Amino acid sequence: MFDGIEYRGFSQRNVETLADYSGVPVWNGLTDEDHPTQVLADFLTAKEVLKKEYQDIKFAFVGDGQDNVSNALMLGAAVMGMEYHVVCPKELEPTRETMEKANEIAKKTGAKIAVFNDINEGVQGMDVIYTDVWVSMGEADEVWEQRINLLKPYQVTQDVLEATKNPQVIFEHCLPAFHSLDTEIGKEIFEKYGIREMEVTNDVFEGKHSVVFHEAENRMHTIKAIMVATLGD
Ligand code: NVA
Repeated sequence: MFDGIEYRGFSQRNVETLADYSGVPVWNGLTDEDHPTQVLADFLTAKEVLKKEYQDIKFAFVGDGQDNVSNALMLGAAVMGMEYHVVCPKELEPTRETMEKANEIAKKTGAKIAVFNDINEGVQGMDVIYTDVWVSMGEADEVWEQRINLLKPYQVTQDVLEATKNPQVIFEHCLPAFHSLDTEIGKEIFEKYGIREMEVTNDVFEGKHSVVFHEAENRMHTIKAIMVATLGD
């Protein structure tokens, strides 16, 4: 009865099974492993703001290196031939499977994918600093404490932007973001763990390098483009 199905859920296997059997286009709107449609808006925004070709954009994800958005960005960067850094603690490095997939693509496109535990080293010279929430959908509430401890040193602050040594650097985030106490979860985490800002500080989120709302608008245009490209004549 439908011309297309967008799956936004948990299991990557579910969306793949749906695509195998549905007979109509299936769009992956977010799973616990991947978020491919987000990447199109993120890259388009970077290209528009930086006025650089995709292969010249240097992109760093700072935070949970196993995050669904980080996985998707890494594969996207590999396809586009970009330089892509995952800057994360040792315990949260991307899985070997994702790295192999990305490196396989990178061999053909010339992309450079690298993982750094040292934040200053990982962000130096980058054009885009990206982060995402520290606990993703489908993960248990119990992981908050461990994630805060592991990821607090990787919070995106003004110092991180300065460490890029790039005055034109931009900040991106897929949203929603926990940068203040204005959300229910933000308040709850503050009450439990005493932390006011999580993956990004409020001054960066609201600051002049932040392009997060431009990026959010580009979600609409890129999703429309995906629908046009896949719905047929
Ligand atoms: N990593 C986030 C992405 C939200 C768009 C989550 O899974 O909740």
